Amino acid sequence: MAKSKIFKNRDVLMPDYLPGRLPHREQQIRKVASVLAQALKGYRPNNLFIYGLTGTGKTAVVKLVTRKLEEKARSKGIRLKISFVNTKRDDTAYRILAKLSEDIGLRVPPSGVATSHLYSRFKKFLDKREIIFIAVLDEIDYHVKRHGDDLLYKLTRINEELKYSKMSLIGITNDINFTSWLDPRVKSSLSEEELVFPPYTASQLEDILKERAVEAFYEGVLEEGVIQLCAAMAARERGDARKALDLLRVAGELAEREGATKVTIEHVRMAWEHIEKDRVTEVVQSLPLHNKLILLSILKLTKEDRATYTGEVYKLYKEYTELLGIETLTLRRVSDLISDLDMLGLIRSEVVSRGRRGMTKMISVESDRNAILRGLSKDPRVAEFVGYL
Ligand SMILES: Nc1ncnc2c1ncn2[C@@H]1O[C@H](COP(=O)(O)OP(=O)(O)OP(=O)(O)O)[C@@H](O)[C@H]1O
Ligand SMILES: [Mg+2]
Repeated sequence: MAKSKIFKNRDVLMPDYLPGRLPHREQQIRKVASVLAQALKGYRPNNLFIYGLTGTGKTAVVKLVTRKLEEKARSKGIRLKISFVNTKRDDTAYRILAKLSEDIGLRVPPSGVATSHLYSRFKKFLDKREIIFIAVLDEIDYHVKRHGDDLLYKLTRINEELKYSKMSLIGITNDINFTSWLDPRVKSSLSEEELVFPPYTASQLEDILKERAVEAFYEGVLEEGVIQLCAAMAARERGDARKALDLLRVAGELAEREGATKVTIEHVRMAWEHIEKDRVTEVVQSLPLHNKLILLSILKLTKEDRATYTGEVYKLYKEYTELLGIETLTLRRVSDLISDLDMLGLIRSEVVSRGRRGMTKMISVESDRNAILRGLSKDPRVAEFVGYL
């Protein structure tokens, strides 16, 4: 591959890159550090619950602070161990316990042991290690929504049964309703300390992008206004730094692919569309089957920018379910699912009067048709019908 004219180091803009500085998170860094600093005195840090919208720097802050804490503990000869589990990836109690166990040096088989047994082994081994153990449970809502809060309950009580070790929890989520999934006792122990990450403003995002851009791009490659536009667009998306960085990176990639020597405002706009289309495909792909069939029906009935109506959609949807030999949902339910598709921004539906025939929904497609089709095609049950479109 030819040497890039645009990127000095593209990795700096990748989502998993952890920068050494996090501008506009000084307050949050200080708070996390002050809670965890107890460990350096040999005490158990309070549990900490962190909430904030996506892309507000929660994971980055906790990683940065825990990394520094580990260094300090090492230099002071304090027996501290930190484990980082993403429960979106490791969502079962078994996998979480396995990861925690491995991080303190206990090998576990990938399966075949009962979770309760694994828990006892973990507890025993943890106590033997005589350490202060901090477990970070990131995106913790994924685990709790699927598997309940039993494990959390146990972990918040574990210190009562430990003699030589101490354990603290840091729970992170971007789900504002998360605590409603918790038993009140779990909720109060998990949030001995609480911390909220506010969304970034446009000018804060600008600062963040500027710092990264210096390392990521060659000098003079970014046209005037590129960073400001990425920041403004991401600020509208509820202050999401990940989105801002993605925009800047994809804009750079598009410029590079064209063989351009500069990243322009136009590249940013193209990047926006690119990212938006990927989002649509992902959202569609993750829909339940019935929602996909309804969406497909809508797509088929709205060619050439025509609008369609609930009754028409229902008829076609019913044909698909019969062809697949699955149950057909009621008209009422399908109408609700159409509203859900609207909420996701995939389609637009408006209630209109049909005179004596009552009310119906007028439905049109709101997002990129090809992106929707790509998402639908990834489901083999739906793909065969997409072909005839
Ligand atoms: N203040 C900041 N300075 C520099 N980069 C930042 C800052 N805040 C966030 N980032 C970067 O933005 C991206 C998203 O941040 P992070 O992963 O911490 O978000 P999050 O709050 O954990 O989001 P989610 O809830 O989706 O997991 C990361 O690449 C991170 O490095
Ligand atoms: Mg995160």
